Amino acid sequence: MSSPARPIGVFDSGVGGLSVLCHIRAALPAEDLLYAADAAHAPYGAKSPQFIEARALALAEFLVAHDAKALVVACNTATAAAIVRLRERFGLPIVGMEPAVKPAVEATRAGVIGVLATSGTIESGKFAELVRRFGSQARVIVQPCPGLVERIEAGDLEGPLTRGLLDGFVAPLLAQGADTLVLGCTHYPFLTPLLRELAGPSVEIVESGAAVARQLARRLAETDFSPAQGAGGERFFSSGDPALLAALLPRLWGAAAPVERFSAG
Ligand code: DGL
Repeated sequence: MSSPARPIGVFDSGVGGLSVLCHIRAALPAEDLLYAADAAHAPYGAKSPQFIEARALALAEFLVAHDAKALVVACNTATAAAIVRLRERFGLPIVGMEPAVKPAVEATRAGVIGVLATSGTIESGKFAELVRRFGSQARVIVQPCPGLVERIEAGDLEGPLTRGLLDGFVAPLLAQGADTLVLGCTHYPFLTPLLRELAGPSVEIVESGAAVARQLARRLAETDFSPAQGAGGERFFSSGDPALLAALLPRLWGAAAPVERFSAG
């Protein structure tokens, strides 16, 4: 008898990682997926790297205790703060996120790219290294976006407050000639329609979700010798109020689903 398929664990501070989960589901339709939103501690963006690392370790413990065979850190901020420790601590494939600076540098025609991300990501050594590697090929303008994750967590993807905030972050980038914008936080892809409206059709918008799903599929193909069969399912967990995540799932995940409460750490 074959052993039951083990799930893939995915986590973020909140709903942002759902933008990555959609790509994982499309790339790996048979896999069971666990999604943990650390809503009780969101947003991570302006918190200390030590705090975020501790949260990432606690979330990973929780997912591993639920038999995860691989982890996806569906959060740029947590990847920057914790991926090294996670890989030291857990002996399973761990895929993280980083802002899509390389594809943006390849795509820009004007030679100017704008990176929208949290201050935690922008101030990290990992991000500095990314800009060092690719920044000589284009001008890289970074833009922290305080307050934006909170609007998305509130389900406000196009209201006046979100529109005003996003415009305030993007207009200076466009004024400096950026023709390519990097969504360096997994929450921001949910604002793509609004961003498209504000930035116009000629601006390229790049994000990392599809690349991360492909990377996960590659890692599983190398390491997972009993891949799942049939149609995979999902389980959603929140460390905050499960009703809040449940209310956003139809819009951000495309279907309603139950949400279980968890506490970790
Ligand atoms: N979605 C996360 C990221 O990709 C974190 C946002 C936050 O909690 O501030 O950076």
